[in-house]
Amino acid sequence: METRVLKAGEGSEHPAISEAARLLRGGEVVAFPTETVYGLGANALNPAAVKKIYEAKGRPSTNPLIVHVASTDQARQLTTHWPDEAEVLARALWPGPLTLILKRRAEIPDLVSAGGDTVGLRMPRHPVALALIEKCGFPLAAPSANLSNYISPTTAAHVKKSLGGRIPMILDGGPSEGGIESTVLDLTREQPKILRPGIFSANFLEGILGKPIVLPAPAKDEMAEPVPQPLRSPGLLLTHYSPHTPFFLVKAGDLPVQLEKLSKNYPRLGLMPITAPGTWGLDYPFVEVKPMPAKAEPYARELYATLYQMDRGHLDAIICELPPDTLEWAGIQDRLRRAAR
Ligand code: TXA
Ligand code: MG
Repeated sequence: METRVLKAGEGSEHPAISEAARLLRGGEVVAFPTETVYGLGANALNPAAVKKIYEAKGRPSTNPLIVHVASTDQARQLTTHWPDEAEVLARALWPGPLTLILKRRAEIPDLVSAGGDTVGLRMPRHPVALALIEKCGFPLAAPSANLSNYISPTTAAHVKKSLGGRIPMILDGGPSEGGIESTVLDLTREQPKILRPGIFSANFLEGILGKPIVLPAPAKDEMAEPVPQPLRSPGLLLTHYSPHTPFFLVKAGDLPVQLEKLSKNYPRLGLMPITAPGTWGLDYPFVEVKPMPAKAEPYARELYATLYQMDRGHLDAIICELPPDTLEWAGIQDRLRRAAR
């Protein structure tokens, strides 16, 4: 299948957006930009269309999809219960990188919610995403537009690299400004619970809600390990968002020791430092050094593009400096730990 890349412009009458909507109406999948990462969309109310998402990504059908809406009203129509918390958060933060888990209406196909009785709803902030959903008139189920387990895309070129030949069209709306996926907040429990940390931190959401939020267990910490590990039970593997190149998370202070071990097995190394490499007291001939921002927001924006760039096959391994252990960095820490092996 040929994958067309069409540049999107302003407004729902833009020809590229009309073309994407035409395909989606016909039960096809289309990749489109959001402010977090690119999504692979299909009509959320059409099971045959949703099935194509799972097929294109190679995604296990046990992992539910987020449904994207263009308004709070549209979200309300997809759930049997719209609690006060949802109203408060949607008013404050939609459109934006926050997914709310709510009780689903029966119209939502089982395939979208992986057979569960809830649905994840989000109103994205990207003007192209909003225009597209409006033009379609139906909500769009959309996971990140990458092959299952690979790095999430923040540009149309990333999508093409991962899904080119497997989907009919990519709507190009420029680089995503958020950089990591939305915060997923479950509102169907006694206490709101973060299922996936993201751009909005728990602190920030608690401030808006005025009540405590339960945090997720952190993704398993897999620090640098010089000897390649045998594969553990696949069910326990957290290889989401992983580059193909081995990826090691290292505390700045541990770098000299880890570098000595790692460089024996992986001579061609890339480095993603936060603190200036000079202060690490190293003169290793890294093949590529990409200094990362010391603030969470710009770090998130650059993360996936950096991983795509580092994962071109020219490195034996990537060493990434572990960012600070604060709530602000929780979403980034989560993605990095999942990328690490
Ligand atoms: O920023 C984002 O959220 C991007 C853009 C495209 O909107 N989407 C995205 O989708 O990251 P995906 O499929 O890669 O991740 C969706 C996450 C998964 O961890 C999934 O398990 C969780 O949301 N999720 C979706 N529906 C759920 C539900 N009903 N209950 C619990 N978790 C749910
Ligand atoms: Mg994903």
